[in-house]
Amino acid sequence: MNDLKGKVAVITGASRGIGAGLADRFLQRGLSLGLCARNMPAERRDAAVQDPQRRNVISCSLDVSDHQALEGFTDRVIQRFQRIDLWVNNAGILDPIGPLRDLDPEHLENNFRTNITGVALGCRLFARHVRTRPGGGILVNITSGAALTPYEGWAPYCSSKAAVNMLTEIVALEESDAGLRSYAVAPGVVDTSMQKTIRACTPEQFPAVSRFIQIAQSGGFSSPAWVADQLLELAFTQRPYAPTRDHVVVRLPILDT
Ligand SMILES: NC(=O)c1ccc[n+]([C@@H]2O[C@H](COP(=O)([O-])OP(=O)(O)OC[C@H]3O[C@@H](n4cnc5c(N)ncnc54)[C@H](OP(=O)(O)O)[C@@H]3O)[C@@H](O)[C@H]2O)c1
Repeated sequence: MNDLKGKVAVITGASRGIGAGLADRFLQRGLSLGLCARNMPAERRDAAVQDPQRRNVISCSLDVSDHQALEGFTDRVIQRFQRIDLWVNNAGILDPIGPLRDLDPEHLENNFRTNITGVALGCRLFARHVRTRPGGGILVNITSGAALTPYEGWAPYCSSKAAVNMLTEIVALEESDAGLRSYAVAPGVVDTSMQKTIRACTPEQFPAVSRFIQIAQSGGFSSPAWVADQLLELAFTQRPYAPTRDHVVVRLPILDT
């Protein structure tokens, strides 16, 4: 299944959950990868070690809100693979959860730093890279249905994901002349540690918790591999594209259970 051999992708937040699942599938499909998270994306590091030439994966421990670290990592990926075709800003956090009035200001700031600043820095670095060489590129920012639906208890998460949608729309407008296609993709519901955190909430913290428990009970999850294939289809299949909201904001279906 080496159909995308020679393509290069960066995935942020690849140490677990959706990001780790994307990395596994992208490797199966033949891509070379730059992976990062605060914890070293260990499984990907092992995959790199199993590669006899040790040349298909670069793995890095960093915080996406640290501009210098992210820039250094980007430079390493470009140095190794010559270019980056697809950049996936996947790193994101849900916490803090609860009514806004009760949230710790530092936790609130950390959410915005990770979910907004981290994504904006990734967009910026990729947009600059795409202008250094021909061929355009594909930017995918992982968003959420929560960007469009106000959930009580999720003020930081909903508002930071709304910011991700708007950042993506603006980059789409600013960079389409360079051949950069930008997408904000909501992946549906995927059973990761983030979903476990949601299900552990009290109704006082998060009044819609029963909906997510019901999704888990009925097995209505999308798999990371399926999400990965949807992203690769979006990125590497010829399709009409215009930098308008209809093209840029993509909601993968939540399995109807
Ligand atoms: N799961 C779902 O159903 C669902 C639905 C809609 C949207 N999403 C979105 O999908 C993305 C992935 O979520 P997930 O469910 O896979 O969550 P997860 O299991 O908690 O994984 C989050 C990933 O982001 C990394 N990360 C967090 N903060 C970071 C930081 N400051 N710098 C670098 N990496 C950081 C984490 O690694 P470290 O802790 O090692 O840094 C981890 O690899 C998020 O953007 C989330 O909002 C998920």
